[in-house]
This record gives sequence, structure tokens and C-alpha cells, in this order.
Amino acid sequence: MVGYDIVSERFDLSNRVVIITGAGQGIGRAFAQAFAAAGAIPVIAELKADAGESVAEGIRETGAQALAVATDVGDEQSTLALAAVVQERFGRIDGLINNAGIFSTIKMRSFSEIPLAEWNQIMHVNVTGVFLMTRAVAPMMKKQRFGRIINISSAAVTMGRSGYLHYIASKSALLGMSRSLAHELGGDGVTVNSLLPGATDTEVERATVSPEQRKAMLAMRSVSRAETPEDLVGTALFLASPDSAFLTGQSLTVDGGLTHL
Ligand SMILES: NC(=O)c1ccc[n+]([C@@H]2O[C@H](COP(=O)([O-])OP(=O)(O)OC[C@H]3O[C@@H](n4cnc5c(N)ncnc54)[C@H](O)[C@@H]3O)[C@@H](O)[C@H]2O)c1
Repeated sequence: MVGYDIVSERFDLSNRVVIITGAGQGIGRAFAQAFAAAGAIPVIAELKADAGESVAEGIRETGAQALAVATDVGDEQSTLALAAVVQERFGRIDGLINNAGIFSTIKMRSFSEIPLAEWNQIMHVNVTGVFLMTRAVAPMMKKQRFGRIINISSAAVTMGRSGYLHYIASKSALLGMSRSLAHELGGDGVTVNSLLPGATDTEVERATVSPEQRKAMLAMRSVSRAETPEDLVGTALFLASPDSAFLTGQSLTVDGGLTHL
């Protein structure tokens, strides 16, 4: 006889309620679709209400469940209202993917040219938004003695790329926040990890990687090809599952082996 329990249902996400912020497009949208396909119920918490609703509708058309709730992660009342709606509708909150961020709209420029207002806005949404969302869902997760929080950082923080210091600073903050929150919530069965995607191609056009940077990154990747949102979903599903219970405060880089923490 072994001295531990063998879990019979590995990676089972059936009916797990997972809030995914900023899931109206890009990586968040792929997460919402993948979680629904895995049997979970994604809650799309998106600033752009129409985009969020359209992702939820697309998922419901496949026969799966999904709910869209217009949310501004930088507004405390909005995050509390979201948690209340999800609690009332489903009676639980199993996961939170802090994916929303100011990213694809960023204009690359030297740190000396970043307007202070833009610096403050990025720190507010990308850092304070994670703080507020985590505070909004933590009471429910603690009560259930189960919760999975995944903070979407960026592999760019390991490289120290130039052109968007505010963004790099905001995504670096998430690594420390995940580690500290892991300690604060670990005793309640809630894990907190950071997922660091490499430069990932989505349906959204953007100018956050110069052609030269992109070429150099592709050449240096161990798996030398472009990254897509589908490359990230397996790690997110694992981090949200009961099987990742003993993994917390960690930083997982999914960038095809370009950087190594
Ligand atoms: N795509 C990449 O190459 C890449 C690489 C590393 C990390 N990331 C991170 O992954 C996440 C998703 O990336 P993406 O490429 O899909 O970005 P994106 O810019 O295409 O999407 C971000 C989403 O967040 C939403 N959002 C912005 N502010 C919000 C707010 N206050 N409240 C709620 N929603 C808000 C936007 O409306 C949008 O739908 C971001 O956090 C990004 O920083 C992306």
C-alpha cells in the first residue's frame, strides 16, 4: 500500500467556475474557449462589453456554458460586483486568471518619453487591477478552501526588453505578488502562480515587438517557431486544476525555451 492517495480524475475541470479577465480577445479569449472545451465554466470579465458577450455567445453556441460580465479590473466596485454576480449565479469561484492588461495598444518608446499619465494607467490596470481582482475573489476561495489564481506576466521581464518600461515594470510586479500571495493564501487551499508567455501571435495587430526583435527571438527559441495562444492553454489548464495543489508562488515561462528562469 502506498502512503498517499492516487487521484482518480486527473486534470478534471468539469463545472469549475473560472473568471478570466480581459477575455474579449487575444490570449484571454483562447483561455475562455479552452476552459469551456475542458468542461469548465469560463466567466469572461472584459472591459469591452460587446467583445466579452460575443466570446461568451460563441462558446454557448458549442453547447458549453459561459458568462460575460462587463468589468473594469481597475475599479474596485466593478471587481466586487463581478465576484457577487458569479457567486450568486454559480455559488462558487474556483479560478481567476488575471489576464487583462494594457498591452496590444502600447506604443513602444524610450522610457524618457513615456508620459507620466500613461505610466500610471499601465501600473493601475496591470498591477492594481490584479490586486483588486484577487481581493474580490479571495473570500469565496478561502471559504471553499479551494482556489487557483494565475497571474499573466510576460517572458519579456526575464529579458529586460527596451521600449516599454512601464509594461515591463508592471509585469515584473506580478512575480513578487504571486509569491507573497502564495504565502498569504496557501493555508486556505488557494494557489497563486505566474504564467509568463513569450511573444504570442493573436488576431490583434500590434507594435509591441519590432521586426528585428521578432526575428532574433524566433532564432533563439529552443522550439524555433511562432507562439500562439494554443501554446499557453495546457499550462493554464494544469495550473487551474486540482492536480497543481502543491505548486504555488512559481513563475512558469512558456516561450518555446527562449529564456530560462
Ligand atoms: N500577446 C503577447 O505576446 C503577450 C506576451 C506576454 C504577455 N502577454 C499578456 O497576456 C495578456 C493578454 O495578452 P493579449 O495579447 O491577449 O492582449 P490584448 O491587448 O489583445 O488583450 C487585453 C484584453 O484586456 C482587456 N482589458 C484592458 N483593460 C482592462 C480593464 N481595465 N478591465 C478589463 N479588461 C481590460 C482589453 O479590452 C483586451 O480585451 C496581457 O496581460 C498581456 O500583457 C501577452
